[in-house]
Amino acid sequence: MVVEFLPPPGTPVEMIDTPAMIVDLDVAEANIRDIQRVVSSGGAAMRPHTKTTKSPYWALKQIDAGAVGVCCAKVGEAEVLVEGGVSDILITSEIISASKIARLAALARNADIKVVVDDADNARDISAAAIASKSQIGVLVDVNIRIDRCGVEPGEPTTTLAKIVDGLPGLNFEGLNGYEGHVFGLGDERIPETLEALEKLQFAVAEVKAAGLPVGTVSAGGTSTHDITSKVPEVTEIQAGSYIFMDGQYVDQELAFGPALTIMTQVISRPVADRAILDVGLKSIANDYGPPRVMGLDGAEFTKLSEEHGTLALEESAQGLVHGDVVHLLPSHAGTTINIHDYYFCVRNGILEDVVEVAGRGKFR
Ligand SMILES: Cc1ncc(COP(=O)(O)O)c(C=O)c1O
Repeated sequence: MVVEFLPPPGTPVEMIDTPAMIVDLDVAEANIRDIQRVVSSGGAAMRPHTKTTKSPYWALKQIDAGAVGVCCAKVGEAEVLVEGGVSDILITSEIISASKIARLAALARNADIKVVVDDADNARDISAAAIASKSQIGVLVDVNIRIDRCGVEPGEPTTTLAKIVDGLPGLNFEGLNGYEGHVFGLGDERIPETLEALEKLQFAVAEVKAAGLPVGTVSAGGTSTHDITSKVPEVTEIQAGSYIFMDGQYVDQELAFGPALTIMTQVISRPVADRAILDVGLKSIANDYGPPRVMGLDGAEFTKLSEEHGTLALEESAQGLVHGDVVHLLPSHAGTTINIHDYYFCVRNGILEDVVEVAGRGKFR
């Protein structure tokens, strides 16, 4: 078996083998503290989404900072979180197949597990699995608040499903889930669009309450709406996730969080003055939302990403780059980049502090 060499704590960042996923701990921790403060002062709790980070390490830091629990997208992610010591988890995607539902029910024996549903038969299947494994599963009815992805419509469809869930053994009807993820990159329209989406959720809450059911939890919000959604009185918790690292997609949104995660790469070839080749490719950085951005090196532009090579076009000011120099890249999409790495290299003031496994990597079942 090949044993991977991992650098010990205390290693200077530029000595870590590349390509490496580097997190600036000071920036990530400030992002965690800042969103917690804003969301608390808005009147809601934080329940960060961990589909980006895919690691209990970050979830536990977020919980230490005041989060009530976390969200994730898949049963496999939830299993990794529970194994890593996280005890309060909301799965924000519908869980359908019999074997996944059985795993969900088994997991609920060891942790407070909640899941969203938008279908009565699915709720019945989850109830049967909870009974079989002698567990209780929290259920939130998933409401479509204009994202037009999953979820039932507010009003009668939501209320009917809530009543069905409430009557099923093994399930605890806990409330409603709504995600206004369509409010992204809207600039001036961000506030009115968010409030319009949230009106749908407020209406759904009022109708369910009018039918005599208690609505203990209303989970909503993302990075681009956390400051607005947390002030909506009905909303009890915010599911933001991307704020922790920010990525190329999010950094231009004028939000008060700093970029904390880069892929550190190394110059492996300098064929001509205006071109440098990096040891990064599609296998170590995702480009589903566009090319990576070069950080801290004026005059260098990322022009091409192939399987194992990255190409930089260099203006004169950047032509001092030589073989072995390191270059930090901001991925356009952190979630899909993290999912192809084994480790986070967590750095403070340029020195390695922790090597953290991406334990949920590839756990998409
Ligand atoms: C259901 C749900 N909630 C919350 C989030 C977190 O949103 P963001 O990454 O913008 O913070 C996502 C992200 O896609 C999501 O799908």
